[in-house]
Amino acid sequence: MRKTIIAGNWKLYKTINEAIELANGLKRELFKANFSAVDVVLCPVFTALSEVAEVLNETDIQLGAQDLYWQDEGAFTGEVSAPMLKDAGCRYVIIGHSERRQFFGETNEMVNKKIKAALKHELTPIICVGENLQEREANNTFKVIEGHIQGALVDISAKDMLKSVIAYEPVWAIGTGKTATGEQAQEVHKFIRDLLRKIYGEEVASSVRIQYGGSVKPENIVELMGKPDVDGALVGGASLKVDSFSSIVIKASEVVK
Ligand code: 13P
Repeated sequence: MRKTIIAGNWKLYKTINEAIELANGLKRELFKANFSAVDVVLCPVFTALSEVAEVLNETDIQLGAQDLYWQDEGAFTGEVSAPMLKDAGCRYVIIGHSERRQFFGETNEMVNKKIKAALKHELTPIICVGENLQEREANNTFKVIEGHIQGALVDISAKDMLKSVIAYEPVWAIGTGKTATGEQAQEVHKFIRDLLRKIYGEEVASSVRIQYGGSVKPENIVELMGKPDVDGALVGGASLKVDSFSSIVIKASEVVK
């Protein structure tokens, strides 16, 4: 049994006060519902982490960051390390998001180093993979996904893999309002799980959670979660409002597999 995991990637949105307000709103709304069947993770900008951690203190909602640097400390201007994220209250960290690959030149090699740093400091990496439109249209989806997975997981042990989460985010579905259909998501999620089986064997393949991300909304979460290999969602735009994100969490918690 894989526990559903719904994470909100707040991207480059929300000042500290706005982040506190959103976290408080979600805390109130989710407190009324029974979401114990779902792991809920909020990933604000770095500057709001400590304050949001305080809001989430003594709740079951977890904190995550959107990126990290692989060195613990040093002369690396502008970076934030795994121990610093732990210090701010994080349990999770998103790694290799397509926006980081696209706009900040992140390579599979860098993604791999970041995953290792997260695991070394007991942060759960949410490892993002996904093809862009051109790659999909050229029928290269599986090739791209395989490259992302193989590249990300170099020298990651089965034990560490069991502590990790994968997010399949087709780039063409991010922020576009174009969601992958349940079938499209399932096809790639199954491909990823089969790949994990080849690399690590059955225990890892059947235990690792694979989230879908890309225009997830209250209107499509049930269809996506209904698929056997979809174990949750990484939500962008719809995670910025109390109503839509809490509705996604509640609807996801009602899907019985
Ligand atoms: P949207 O939900 O806004 O499409 O973003 C998805 C995403 O990139 C989450 O990491």
